[in-house]
Amino acid sequence: MIDFTGRTVLVAGGSSGIGLGIARCFEAAGALVHITGTRAGSGDYAGTDLGGLVFHQLDVAEAGAAASLSSELGAVDVVVPSVGTVAYGGAEYEIETFRHVIDVNLNGVMEHCTAFRPQLTESGQGSVVVIGSTSSFIATPGQPAYSASKGALVTLTKSLATAWAKHGIRVNGVAPGFVNTKLTARSHDDPDVYEATIDRIPMRRWGEPAEMGNAALFLASSMASYITGQMLLVDGGITLM
Ligand SMILES: NC(=O)c1ccc[n+]([C@@H]2O[C@H](COP(=O)([O-])OP(=O)(O)OC[C@H]3O[C@@H](n4cnc5c(N)ncnc54)[C@H](OP(=O)(O)O)[C@@H]3O)[C@@H](O)[C@H]2O)c1
Repeated sequence: MIDFTGRTVLVAGGSSGIGLGIARCFEAAGALVHITGTRAGSGDYAGTDLGGLVFHQLDVAEAGAAASLSSELGAVDVVVPSVGTVAYGGAEYEIETFRHVIDVNLNGVMEHCTAFRPQLTESGQGSVVVIGSTSSFIATPGQPAYSASKGALVTLTKSLATAWAKHGIRVNGVAPGFVNTKLTARSHDDPDVYEATIDRIPMRRWGEPAEMGNAALFLASSMASYITGQMLLVDGGITLM
């Protein structure tokens, strides 16, 4: 049984989708869970239950946003930077959009990792779980910025894991396959696109946010005490062929 009672977890991007699924897994394991989202307050997410989670507004486009949240919070044992964005319709071939996606998905993650490094060191059992993607490993021609940002997270994870092992901090990642969220609604809700994705997944279904949460919970827990620098694919087998 994984028990996070008495420990504090920050899930950046926990207002929605995979981040929210991860937040709920840590909450169920007994943790105090802080989450962030871009809107002003938790009441601005109509139809989404954020009860029991401590909400903070944070947009990584604002310089120093993660650093200022870090100085606001006390002890933090686990950081899961799940913030992410994507652009469709070829927009990621335009340099401004390319920069924006890299900024949120890569620079935003690094900002969270560095901002909370002191608390993670203080924890003695500090752990970071970044959120990669199958696009960390395979070409995504429609989304070159998304794929580049997610690929970079693989080596960022290895670099931080190596650098911060001496601080007692483990750094790993979960790389989800398709999960129905705001980010992927466009593919999920188009019957032709959805069927095409199912045809590529050996397990013949999309994943659930809780399945990503369970993987993150494991990686952050003492069950994974000798695992660092790894990006764990949780994708129903889509990258196997
Ligand atoms: N869904 C999938 O199939 C899939 C597959 C592989 C990887 N992922 C990754 O999983 C992570 C979560 O994505 P999701 O699918 O759960 O999407 P989502 O439901 O859209 O959640 C994205 C989260 O990031 C936050 N966010 C977006 N832009 C931000 C910004 N500029 N500053 C701060 N926070 C920002 C959102 O806040 P608001 O709620 O306020 O918008 C939300 O909390 C991402 O890193 C994504 O790349 C998703």
